[in-house]
Amino acid sequence: MKINTAEIVMSAVKPEQYPEGDLPEIAMVGRSNVGKSSAINTLLRRRKLARVSSSPGKTRTINFYLINNAFYLVDLPGYGYAKTSKPERASWGKMIETYLSTRENLQEVVQLVDIRHKPSKDDQLMYNWLKHFGYGSLVLATKLDKITRSQYQKHFKIIRETLEMPPGSRIMPLSSLKKTGIEEAWENMRPLLEKPDPIEVREEENTEET
Ligand code: GTP
Ligand code: MG
Repeated sequence: MKINTAEIVMSAVKPEQYPEGDLPEIAMVGRSNVGKSSAINTLLRRRKLARVSSSPGKTRTINFYLINNAFYLVDLPGYGYAKTSKPERASWGKMIETYLSTRENLQEVVQLVDIRHKPSKDDQLMYNWLKHFGYGSLVLATKLDKITRSQYQKHFKIIRETLEMPPGSRIMPLSSLKKTGIEEAWENMRPLLEKPDPIEVREEENTEET
């Protein structure tokens, strides 16, 4: 994937602030600290576009990155960060849920999991929720550099079994440290941007009926 331009156009906390227009979007979801913002930088081959931190809870808004003036990558706050205060956790939860359940431009959601760890209860809930809403449940395993090559298959198997991923579904491995897995991730993500708009499809179906 050739990245000609990549810029942040909005940090939103509510729907009125989402970018206008009908460009397609791919959003990144996952636990706090899993490496969502790092993955965005890595995929875009930019060092400091999305802000990254070793302490969880860095991303606090819905950040829209416009790529090649053609589509958006969307960075979301992470879930499951225990040290966040309860009201703050609830308001982030609401913010993420509102975005995921109402955004018409959203073509696909990529769920990030840390390759080292068994997906958490929250990860399982998110995976099922996404599946229920018709998303393809594309999983990106981060921090590949933290385990050895001989451990890959074992860890993929744990992720696949815990999330109950259907046969044939993809886990894309990525290392933001070593910059590996970038092209493979784009190969899986690029076709998502060419999917027909779900809203248009629904409207066409309605027209046929009448
Ligand atoms: P929140 O914004 O808090 O939800 O976190 P996030 O999911 O955006 O994580 P972020 O990208 O900020 O990364 C968290 C930490 O993990 C940082 O210290 C990163 O440098 C580190 N990290 C992310 N990806 C990788 C990776 O592939 N390999 C290694 N070794 N470290 C990584
Ligand atoms: Mg982040």
